[in-house]
Amino acid sequence: MRETILSIEKVVFGGEGLGRLPEGKIVFVPYVIPGEKVKITVVEEHKDYAIAQVEDVIIPSPNRVKPPCRYYTLCGGCQFQHLDYETELKIKEEVLRDLFIRQGYKEEIPLKSVINSPVEYGYRNKLRLHVESPPLKMGFVKRKTHEVLRIEECLLGDQLLNEILSYLYDHPLWKKLSLYIKRIRIEKSLLDETVCLLFWSSIAPEKRDLETLANDFRIKSIFYYLKGARAFGPYPDDAPHYGRRILPAIEDLVYYIRPGVFTQSHWEINLRIMETIRDIAKESDKILDLHSGMGNFLLPLVKSLKDVREFLGVDTDIQAIEDGLYTASINRLNGRLELRRKSALETLHDAIKEGKKYDLVILDPPRGGCKELIRFLPEVASKKIIYLSCDAPTLVRDILFFNKAGYSLTELYLFDMFPRTYHWETLALLQR
Ligand SMILES: C[S@@+](CC[C@H](N)C(=O)[O-])C[C@H]1O[C@@H](n2cnc3c(N)ncnc32)[C@H](O)[C@@H]1O
Repeated sequence: MRETILSIEKVVFGGEGLGRLPEGKIVFVPYVIPGEKVKITVVEEHKDYAIAQVEDVIIPSPNRVKPPCRYYTLCGGCQFQHLDYETELKIKEEVLRDLFIRQGYKEEIPLKSVINSPVEYGYRNKLRLHVESPPLKMGFVKRKTHEVLRIEECLLGDQLLNEILSYLYDHPLWKKLSLYIKRIRIEKSLLDETVCLLFWSSIAPEKRDLETLANDFRIKSIFYYLKGARAFGPYPDDAPHYGRRILPAIEDLVYYIRPGVFTQSHWEINLRIMETIRDIAKESDKILDLHSGMGNFLLPLVKSLKDVREFLGVDTDIQAIEDGLYTASINRLNGRLELRRKSALETLHDAIKEGKKYDLVILDPPRGGCKELIRFLPEVASKKIIYLSCDAPTLVRDILFFNKAGYSLTELYLFDMFPRTYHWETLALLQR
């Protein structure tokens, strides 16, 4: 195994530091900070690059801090616990700018602001854990393996989620049920400080076991998947709002969402994104949200923009659409918007057939981006497109396609939705 000493030039997307081996080959090194001098061992050699691990930090950065989590470097979840938060934000901004430059973007990058998180830890309102038993293990996949790391506490998670994790570890009934369980989600209902549980089981649990487990004031509801697309639940069956989580939004809205339906993980940052979208949307006449989920970004627009003539939201997840409609009805917004289970592509096809145009289109696709939509959008999106993305490389790739299709990038925002990890959300405003 090759050992050498090198300096870290920068951090790249994914969180690794980049340095150079004596012959000039690039080497990626995790858990380092730009400017540090480190002793490394090469653990993987490839034709154009190598991967190394740190043996010793010879000259540490003044921005290095002691990682607070006992699982850090073992667990694959966090990459930035070893540096202070200011440095993390600076790195994220540099990585975003670098992605644009490396993909050949020639204009000035219109980054308007970097919206930091008010807290570095404890911000996640949901945890998704693998379950193995016996012996009972709940946790995340170990870094670079498929092995489950037993986690007793996740510092990124809200304190209540961690309390429930301990409750489950200690509960004899959960030990019994977990023999058949593969995964669990613990999701917080923010307005009433309770949690909803959703798990995947290979055998139907006894109703009375679930009710006993839910017999704790902190647990609002339990759902489970067996086979098929619908979860069983809620348990208890008289849980308020059919066991939905209750989440406060801007414009005095309150959302009612079942566990498992997509929600943004860091609610404070989600509220900042809602406000930014509301400000951009002000002058609109017709608004189309092509990945609306439960209406997260659309509902505040419906509430605040009285002059908009049409709001249409579509999503392929039927449960998200159902929860959006339930939420709209409780907030007395029925009749002001349409939420439909439909794919983004089919929606664009239909709009083109019917000659419909929208002056604001919102895109918030899964990680893979929305390359397949771009060639249809010019016929439908007549003015502005707001593109929100949790994966900056695909966003930048798509922005270059949008440029070719006649849209310019006019505003860019970096929202730090995921402190201590290499992830963030980017919002891009594209205009014709
Ligand atoms: C990142 S989430 C965003 C949801 C929503 N904007 C929010 O903030 O809660 C992406 C959403 O895209 C939906 N989706 C995935 N593929 C889709 C498609 N082909 N057409 C429409 N929606 C899709 C998912 O069901 C999911 O709700």
